[in-house]
Amino acid sequence: MTMRAKPGATRAVPQAEFTLRVNNTEYPLRVDARVTLLDALRDRLGLTGTKKGCDQGTCGACTVHVDGKRVLSCLTLAAQCDGRDVTTIEGVGTAEQLHPVQEAFLRHDGFQCGYCTPGQIMSALGLLSEDRAGTPEDIREYMSGNICRCGAYENIVAAIREAAGDHDETL
Ligand code: FES
Ligand code: FES
Repeated sequence: MTMRAKPGATRAVPQAEFTLRVNNTEYPLRVDARVTLLDALRDRLGLTGTKKGCDQGTCGACTVHVDGKRVLSCLTLAAQCDGRDVTTIEGVGTAEQLHPVQEAFLRHDGFQCGYCTPGQIMSALGLLSEDRAGTPEDIREYMSGNICRCGAYENIVAAIREAAGDHDETL
């Protein structure tokens, strides 16, 4: 990554030049070094599946994976992701072949308006890879950073339980 001052600026705004690798595609970028990963994804790359809710780290709508770990893209600088692997909801399943977690959300009505859903699914994938979906309480705890204003929590938990291989019909 290279950093340089914007030509002609009275007060130098540091620019960052680097390559963002998102969903296995490389995007060369030159942006204000203060641009968040969320804004780079949505506004520069047109990957609008990742949603902006609070823009301050409290709702989870912007959850993506960086090097396989879930992160809040509104609290991550794009330039910090130079040389790292970013995965967004666009990189999960396809319209023709959904990921099993996406299918489980559909089957269990794990959403209403759908605004929080990309973040919920990215977080659910993280939870499953962390092997933390042992009980409904675990799922609630480890998904607690993802807010759903429609209150679809019970169905989200049911979807994640199914994706984890737990088919308890009492939910
Ligand atoms: Fe990032 Fe809400 S938009 S946590
Ligand atoms: Fe509407 Fe979660 S489905 S905010």
